[in-house]
Amino acid sequence: MNRTALITGANKGIGYEIARQLAEHGFTVLVGARDPKRGETAVAKLRAGGADARFVPLDVTDAQSVAAAAAAVEAEFGALDVLVNNAGIAGAFEGDGKPSTTTLGTLREVFETNVFGVVAVTNAMLPLLRRAPAARIVNVSSEVGSLTMATDPTGPMWPMAAIPYPTSKTALNMITAQYAKELWDTPIRVNAVNPGYTATDFNGHSGFRTAAQGAEPIVAVLTGPAGGPSGQFTGHLWGEPGGVEYGPLPW
Ligand SMILES: NC(=O)c1ccc[n+]([C@@H]2O[C@H](COP(=O)([O-])OP(=O)(O)OC[C@H]3O[C@@H](n4cnc5c(N)ncnc54)[C@H](OP(=O)(O)O)[C@@H]3O)[C@@H](O)[C@H]2O)c1
Repeated sequence: MNRTALITGANKGIGYEIARQLAEHGFTVLVGARDPKRGETAVAKLRAGGADARFVPLDVTDAQSVAAAAAAVEAEFGALDVLVNNAGIAGAFEGDGKPSTTTLGTLREVFETNVFGVVAVTNAMLPLLRRAPAARIVNVSSEVGSLTMATDPTGPMWPMAAIPYPTSKTALNMITAQYAKELWDTPIRVNAVNPGYTATDFNGHSGFRTAAQGAEPIVAVLTGPAGGPSGQFTGHLWGEPGGVEYGPLPW
């Protein structure tokens, strides 16, 4: 049976790679992008590589756009097998980037995309996910959202002291856990996955690994055996330059 996957922010970076790899697994990939030109360009590239890819206009911070995307997916497919909440922003770097120089404007902006956008898109798509035989949701998270890692003085996250992006991913992790609990008795699996520090526009391409490697643990969770885990946080670990190994991460 043909399966569909909607990936937010799929016009570039890790989202694009998730789309490309899911297409290789036989999914029809719905490329969510807020800019039509960037979205259509990505779709053309995916199609040139053999993917069954479609553009879905989707700005996760715009309620009308989210509703229109859900209506478009429903009209064409009637159901949705996979949702990847990948769209994310780092936010402006203010002052020295420390908590004491953070502005509420930046904090709100980051949460609009990384947190509120995820809830808006998930709730809009859930009726379609419930119609699929065994849908899966992955929220693309980060190890910088791990409270355990952030508070370990011997760990790699200790030197980072910042609010907007790390707290947005901590919130995303809890959101993942809460959806997993609500949907526990359904076939829908909900997990948070960390691509690890990946070379994309997000960080001026300073990451340890390629976007294709970053997408791997996400695609693994989405294509693993039926009835897999729910409410888990997995992915690449920080201190693993260039590696392709991944596993459970501390919340
Ligand atoms: N790169 C890393 O090291 C790393 C590590 C851990 C987690 N992550 C997470 O991985 C995800 C993807 O990051 P990336 O590295 O691939 O970054 P990226 O190359 O900057 O791509 C981000 C994507 O999100 C889209 N986006 C941003 N705001 C949006 C909105 N309001 N509506 C719809 N799409 C929106 C962007 O679209 P435009 O092209 O229109 O801006 C772009 O397609 C993010 O959630 C990020 O937090 C990244």
